[in-house]
Amino acid sequence: MPVINHMMDEYSDQCGPIGVFDSGYGGLTILREIRRRLPEYDYLYLGDNARAPYGTRSFDVVYRFTLEAVQYLFSRGCRLVILACNTASAKALRTIQQNDLPAIDPSRRVLGVIRPTVEAIGSISKSGKVGVLGTSGTVSSRSYDMEISKLYPQFSTVSQACPMWVPLVENHEAEKPGADYFVEKYVSELLEKSPDIDTIVLACTHYPILYPKIRKSVPEAIRVVTQGDIVAESLADYLRRHPEMASRCSRGGECRYLTTENPEKFTDLANVFLSESVKVDHIDL
Ligand code: DGL
Repeated sequence: MPVINHMMDEYSDQCGPIGVFDSGYGGLTILREIRRRLPEYDYLYLGDNARAPYGTRSFDVVYRFTLEAVQYLFSRGCRLVILACNTASAKALRTIQQNDLPAIDPSRRVLGVIRPTVEAIGSISKSGKVGVLGTSGTVSSRSYDMEISKLYPQFSTVSQACPMWVPLVENHEAEKPGADYFVEKYVSELLEKSPDIDTIVLACTHYPILYPKIRKSVPEAIRVVTQGDIVAESLADYLRRHPEMASRCSRGGECRYLTTENPEKFTDLANVFLSESVKVDHIDL
């Protein structure tokens, strides 16, 4: 159970950085927009690159890995953790919120990316026909279908799992010509299921790294929605509505990065992707 009491909390008892967690690099697409929207806060990013991808793992394994990561971020002083990962949000968020947080520390919070994305889709899709591209785990959880039909019963959703996309990103192949085949394959499989969708949600935080190729494969009339700015706006709104939590998030404009893999490997892609040089430390979960 909670490791939090056994580890040094390097921030004060009162406040700490906002934790941002993903299985690997994908959460950087969320972090970048959050930092743009809320630059005054401190952030601690954790990528579990050594165990990515999560998308093909079972419910229990994703839950266990995600809980370990959340507890680690708590132990480093985070009061608020964003699961910048759809797979973890789909498979672990609810259990962590309902079963684990009350036992660990009811004053801390863990938020996901699915709910804010679905809320935003309501004003983006005009036809109510929405396509979802995600990992096998996110698609088989049916989290998007269920949330969308709860909020917008008149909408219909089709989904396509894209199991090769995260490995392409994690292995630095996203911009190489070899990635084209798998991008076109999953996009056309989605469009075959419902040619009249007007909106495609990139329901995996790794996918914006493939955005230029995805955009090229999707007909121009279809909107391709990424989650970074949506999640950033939703976090800003959350902090506005919860001043008690906002006051427990430290404000120094600093961002630190942690990976369970090799820090040099992480730095290479993070530098390109974030267009800034980042300092990365290795940790074990
Ligand atoms: N970036 C993640 C997501 O949004 C996880 C992908 C993976 O590890 O398979 O689903």
